[in-house]
Amino acid sequence: MKKVRKAVFPAAGLGTRFLPATKVNPKEMLPIVDKPLIQYAVEEAAEAGITDMIFIIGRTKRAIADHYDKAYELEVELEQRGKLRVLAEVRKITPPGMNCIFIRQAEALGLGHAVLCAQPAVGDEPFAVILADDLIDGQPGAIKQMCEQFDYYQSSLVGVETVSPEETGSYGIVATETMTGRISRVTRIVEKPKPADAPSNLAVVGRYILTPRIFHHLKRIERGAGGELQLTDGIARLLAEQQVLAYAFEGQRFDCGTKLGYMQAQVEFALKHEEIADAFNAYLKTRFCASCKD
Ligand code: UTP
Repeated sequence: MKKVRKAVFPAAGLGTRFLPATKVNPKEMLPIVDKPLIQYAVEEAAEAGITDMIFIIGRTKRAIADHYDKAYELEVELEQRGKLRVLAEVRKITPPGMNCIFIRQAEALGLGHAVLCAQPAVGDEPFAVILADDLIDGQPGAIKQMCEQFDYYQSSLVGVETVSPEETGSYGIVATETMTGRISRVTRIVEKPKPADAPSNLAVVGRYILTPRIFHHLKRIERGAGGELQLTDGIARLLAEQQVLAYAFEGQRFDCGTKLGYMQAQVEFALKHEEIADAFNAYLKTRFCASCKD
């Protein structure tokens, strides 16, 4: 039985919707309260027992690599100042036993190409793909839920969520056959279809478990939607020869690639944050009441 031990984090997109914030920093380093999006994603993978974290980095390559490097001077400084709680937080970023691998995607040719860049580090085993800008608040995390399904079915899985029909043009959309519970069998997958052409309104969001056969197909795809090499097109080819399952994960997703989704995540995570939850809640109440009077 194969186990998922490796996760790929594509973080080499241009992040145009968040410019100018993403001019020098990747979108994946934007914080939700006090933790960057990429760290939530890596923690989700670690919770699932994944040890090898493969980051696909691009133009703004330094920030993520620096975040996962040990910061000796900072740690000494925090220790000398007696800031032991934050010191523990900083040390937690890279727990013992976690391996970080950084791969450069020289040109942002699309998500399919970004995943293909990971092949030398993934090799011939199943792996997870996590898009950190899709933040999923789930217990257990979405990737742990999907790894449990993989342990049973031993086939590729895409994380799915129902979206409103007018949103299909922003997602990969699947047609499925019902199987059991949260699992269904994918019969078709299309990238960003117009609502009229969409086979359903079941959208693929940023969580995947893929067999290594995907690389064979990613090498053969052509530029698709938006002129990019799309992971969806690789999965469509994979479907012709292997079973691909759709998994409706449990948890709330925030599309942090958009300003609105990002701000919604900020509010929800701030309302749960141990340091500021009460004060923030009180602030929102006064703010809300003030606007009611307007
Ligand atoms: P998006 O479609 O959100 O694109 O990528 P983007 O460039 O990051 O952002 P916008 O649309 O310009 O605002 C989805 C995921 O795929 C990664 C991104 O970093 C993000 O995690 N990606 C995309 C790559 O790693 N390489 C690419 O060539 C494209």
